[in-house]
Amino acid sequence: ADEGMWLPYLLGQQTYADMVKKGLKLSKEQLYSINKSSMKDAIIIFGGGCTGEIVSNEGLIFTNHHCGYAAIASASSVENNYLRDGFYAKNKQEEIPSKALSVQFLVRIEDVTAKVEEVLKGVSLNERAAKLQGVYGEIITAATSGNGYEARVIPMFRGNQYILFVYERYKDIRLVGTPPENVGKFGGDTDNWEWPRHTGDFSVFRVYAGKDGKPAEFAKDNVPLKPKHFLPVSIKGVKENDYAMIFGYPGGTNRYETSLGVKLKTDVENPSIVSLRDIRLKYMFEEMKKDPAVKLQLASSYAGIANYWKFFDGESKQLLKYHVYEEKQKQEATFQQWAKGKPEFENVFPQYEKAYKAWAPYTKVRIYLMEGILGSPLAAYASSLGAVENAILKKGDVKAAVAAADAARTNFLKEENKASDQKIMAITAQMFYDDIPKDQHPIGFYESLKSFGDLGDEKTYRTWAANVFANTMILNDAKWKAFTGNPDATVLQDDPAYAYASAFVKNYVGKYLPLFNQFTTENNDLGRLYLKGEMQRQPTANRYPDANFTMRLSYGQVKPYKPRDAVAYDYVTTIDGVMEKYKPGDYEFDLHQDFIGLVKKKDFGQYIDAKRNTLVVNFITTNDITGGNSGSPVINGNGELIGLAFDGNYEALSHKIQFDKNLNRTICVDVRYVLWCIDKLGGAKNIINELKIVK
Ligand code: ARG
Repeated sequence: ADEGMWLPYLLGQQTYADMVKKGLKLSKEQLYSINKSSMKDAIIIFGGGCTGEIVSNEGLIFTNHHCGYAAIASASSVENNYLRDGFYAKNKQEEIPSKALSVQFLVRIEDVTAKVEEVLKGVSLNERAAKLQGVYGEIITAATSGNGYEARVIPMFRGNQYILFVYERYKDIRLVGTPPENVGKFGGDTDNWEWPRHTGDFSVFRVYAGKDGKPAEFAKDNVPLKPKHFLPVSIKGVKENDYAMIFGYPGGTNRYETSLGVKLKTDVENPSIVSLRDIRLKYMFEEMKKDPAVKLQLASSYAGIANYWKFFDGESKQLLKYHVYEEKQKQEATFQQWAKGKPEFENVFPQYEKAYKAWAPYTKVRIYLMEGILGSPLAAYASSLGAVENAILKKGDVKAAVAAADAARTNFLKEENKASDQKIMAITAQMFYDDIPKDQHPIGFYESLKSFGDLGDEKTYRTWAANVFANTMILNDAKWKAFTGNPDATVLQDDPAYAYASAFVKNYVGKYLPLFNQFTTENNDLGRLYLKGEMQRQPTANRYPDANFTMRLSYGQVKPYKPRDAVAYDYVTTIDGVMEKYKPGDYEFDLHQDFIGLVKKKDFGQYIDAKRNTLVVNFITTNDITGGNSGSPVINGNGELIGLAFDGNYEALSHKIQFDKNLNRTICVDVRYVLWCIDKLGGAKNIINELKIVK
């Protein structure tokens, strides 16, 4: 019942009325207003793909631990291991600048559909992309000239509407606090995407501005941002059926995906991605376990790969279990029935079939390149040297290309773990050989590999990879210096890492990328037509556009669920459950002694749940969210923060394609647990004192 990721600036009367019925006490203007400060001003894009919220008048930010993860890991060292042990700045001087982070505030939005469609009139399918880029560019330039803003034009409803989003980006972001990883990621990948959950998935940052309040590059004397709005925090706790609203940036859904797309996903795409990630994770983990320095080095990359490894596996299982393919076929039959005799729509599905038929045989070669061959960090970096080769051969700016490659190499080397990477390179080359039809292999590569042994033998690939790692100039400072001092195409082409990566990339770019682009173009346009048709077929339906990393509002309620026959899940978990899961010395379920001590003393302070006489850790709601919403505020009917959204449940992992109204839940960390961790566990009263706490 709580399906929908609504555009807060286009909140329909019907949707708003339903929100009020469920418990919202605020006006539309208080949620979103262009002229006055409103709730939307407290919601930010955090980093590259998360949400955060402002919780004090000094620019304090709450987001998830897994959103701050890369920044926390890179602020850590084996001596000062904040990732492992946690960290709280006791004053502003102790905060740690996070150079790779920025946050974005939404300034304004504008419907630019008319302008865009004007330009697309009479344009053929294959010219569309270029025309779109052109008109987007004009619109963006007009929106950003002279004000320092950034802007993006985003198609909605699969290109049936175009909206301009203008943002203000702040770049001086500092780490204020984080719980230890065994709280912030308690349960690790075993518990990821699962309820019941017991994770303190939060971290704390602050946004700084120049003295004029405007965005500024990092500088010691920048000042905390005075926000237009910040969220008060309620420690009254949650009850079943309580209203819950989530503002944030869901990254992507595909709710109008076709049966053909679902089938390709479950048959080919997801299983391929999962098996390639599985093996990469295995080799990374072996090294991370051995050495805390390697753990810090690979932690963030590992977490990202693991998160969607489990997601894609679960997604396939749920799509099959709920017969989503068959369901989609039924919907498509209804559409086709309606489309009969309507020239604009009657060929949509026959054309979809043609498009899928043309592309499907090559799906795997694309995935085995992206997730396999280039899943080796060395191969991925080597492939980027294609820009240098191009510059040399085409007499471009070789100096600039080399300088860029040199800077990128420094970053690459910081994260390079040779032991795992060498194994990954060997195994992915072998998997490509075994699983991809021979006529799709790069010409000559496997032939040349035969000098290392039999192609059916794992050892052959290991020996070859060892040879690559021993001889590539990328991993040899002297050779690299010689090359960059005198860039020569033959030297580059003869480099074993470059030769390997570029053989596979050129094979793909030459033969399969054009087919993929054609498929994407057709698939997008058919998607636009399909949805346009659906809007005509059912003109009064209350529709929301697919998620696309623009600000959305989702509302729902705190609610338990029944995952399967005879099993009922409560809507909260407590600290008692954390202790039940606790396994001393375990990689995912360990706890520090001070944590255990506090729990034994039942030192829960004002954060205790009076009814349960214990500390509530996580709760679930019926909200419709997805990846990108991570870190989003969960807000009660009065506009107060009650938790942070951080995950979805396993039973609803098909949610990107189909929302299940009985089983879909959003997993949230209770803000009382967040504050307990900061206050009692972290002793950071300074942070608590900054908040506006509603009791
Ligand atoms: N599944 C969560 C999401 O995509 C990320 C959770 C991170 N935690 C973890 N154990 N990997 O939003």
